[in-house]
Amino acid sequence: MLDFRIILDEIYKDAIHTKDKGVVASYIPELAHIDRNSFGIHLRTSEGNEYSVGDFNKPFSIQSISKVLALAKAISFKGNDVWQRVGVEPSGNPFNHLSLLELENGIPRNPLINSGAIVIADILISHLDNPKEDFLNFVRDLTGDNSVNYNKQVAKSEKATGYKNIAAANLLKSFGNLENSVDDVLDFYFHQCSIEMSCSQLSKAFYLFVNKGKCLFEKVYLTESQAKRINAIMLTCGFYDEAGEFAFEVGLPGKSGVGGGIAALLPNKFVITTWSPGLNKNGNSQLGMQALEQFTSKTKLSIF
Ligand code: DON
Repeated sequence: MLDFRIILDEIYKDAIHTKDKGVVASYIPELAHIDRNSFGIHLRTSEGNEYSVGDFNKPFSIQSISKVLALAKAISFKGNDVWQRVGVEPSGNPFNHLSLLELENGIPRNPLINSGAIVIADILISHLDNPKEDFLNFVRDLTGDNSVNYNKQVAKSEKATGYKNIAAANLLKSFGNLENSVDDVLDFYFHQCSIEMSCSQLSKAFYLFVNKGKCLFEKVYLTESQAKRINAIMLTCGFYDEAGEFAFEVGLPGKSGVGGGIAALLPNKFVITTWSPGLNKNGNSQLGMQALEQFTSKTKLSIF
């Protein structure tokens, strides 16, 4: 029998003693103050058991992890029509890369790079009555927790310095792949990325991807096929130019964010979330990746 408690304790001890903890993101100035020694893990199994270590209850900026939740919401409105405006191929490039977008006529490679997520934000704005409020309520419903919120300071900080996203949104607009104004779409996107959650909240929010589209509270948001496809996109695109490395080392669908969080899952079995703010050179949490590699190696629980 696997003892998850012992395994998480071993991983935690290793992580806190690792000298190279990566570098905290500073291109969004508000994120630069975060203590890089923070470290937490939370595991939720399909049997309803929870295991956790470290700072698993401390909220952090989920950043790009929000892109998966936004995609789920957009698919629940538009189904397969989403794929007319964004692809499903890994980009092999950093999350904020621009030149492919121009070469490929304003169709982003996938919904988890920034340009793809900006198209998804545009779809949400077109379909939601009060986009920011409605999206936050969706995330709160998935989590069963009304304390989940935007961090307006972080959103503002990104807006003031988000030159590459501003460029991406303008390129998308020039190709006719944004229905709404660049300003409205970016305002929504920066807020979406600024949502704060702890590892334990994030494990709840991602449970629908473990559970064939049905959330922790039994509400069905996605069909089984839609949940399968979102997991496939996480596996192939969730870590940008490091997606191959994550599949190789960890072997789970997952998504990272520059706030240092990672949410990963084994369909039908568990969701595991980690938070460690120091990033590696690809913008993914250094110790989070280390922890997840150790977890799937020690437990032999991966999709491969
Ligand atoms: O758009 C950005 O650059 C950020 N709001 C999100 C980027 C991010 O989290 C990339 N993930 N590792």
